Amino acid sequence: MSTYLYKDVNKVTTNILQRMRDEGEKIAMLTAYDYSTAKLLDMAGLDVILVGDSAANVMAGYKTTLPITLNEMIYHASSVVRAVERALVIVDLPFGTYQGNSKEALNSAVRIMKESGADAVKLEGGEEVSESIDRILSAGIPVMGHLGLMPQSINKFGTYAVRAKEDKEAEKIVKDAQILDRHGCFGVVLEKIPALLAKEITDSVSIPTIGIGAGPHVSGQVLVFHDMVGITQQFSPRFLRRYHNLSEEIIKAVTTYIDDVKRVDFPNEKEQY
Ligand code: KIV
Repeated sequence: MSTYLYKDVNKVTTNILQRMRDEGEKIAMLTAYDYSTAKLLDMAGLDVILVGDSAANVMAGYKTTLPITLNEMIYHASSVVRAVERALVIVDLPFGTYQGNSKEALNSAVRIMKESGADAVKLEGGEEVSESIDRILSAGIPVMGHLGLMPQSINKFGTYAVRAKEDKEAEKIVKDAQILDRHGCFGVVLEKIPALLAKEITDSVSIPTIGIGAGPHVSGQVLVFHDMVGITQQFSPRFLRRYHNLSEEIIKAVTTYIDDVKRVDFPNEKEQY
């Protein structure tokens, strides 16, 4: 195992992420939506836990991230916060709670911070949400941006395919990343864009860039935990590295349990009072 510059910090903050970016240490981020998983990720030494609105897909089985509510995000976030000591905890503002109305954006962000105890919020979009970003930041709440494939805009995009293949969209993403930087976001997620574009963006902003399907030339990486340990089975994009095949192991454990119960092998003498 390598040694890391910031391994021994008691608590990862947005300032620490900036220092990691400036000193070339990559930032490791994963999603979590519940207490037990968050505890394991924190114990493993992960830098950032994202309570993503991908909870809508992974936890609730919705096809898109759109249906999840602010109350549901606060429930997931507070479960995660209760488990975490070291990692920075960032929470997604769900669809419809910040776009087009900066006062509502501030109220939503304040509710997340107050009711869950999280460290920061994340939202999707560039210039079009800059007023909401300004208002949230003015209350002292750190904001992370999210550009490229923005799952909350799936009905506009019509597909989850790689973004910014056309110059016009690539130019807008570069401009938006610079706007997020200028407005004071502490970082930006770049989802499913060409690696060279992610490099161009990373070189043109002063804040950390966190990639998912955006290649290696970024300040850090994020994956959905359930995808990287193989709990989800159907989702296999090219960018996803599976570190485990937990679905196979869980199914094996459960079928063995069923068998043990049916054969009255479980519980045995030692497993009773
Ligand atoms: O909701 C989520 O999990 C995310 C990551 C994919 C970055 O936004």
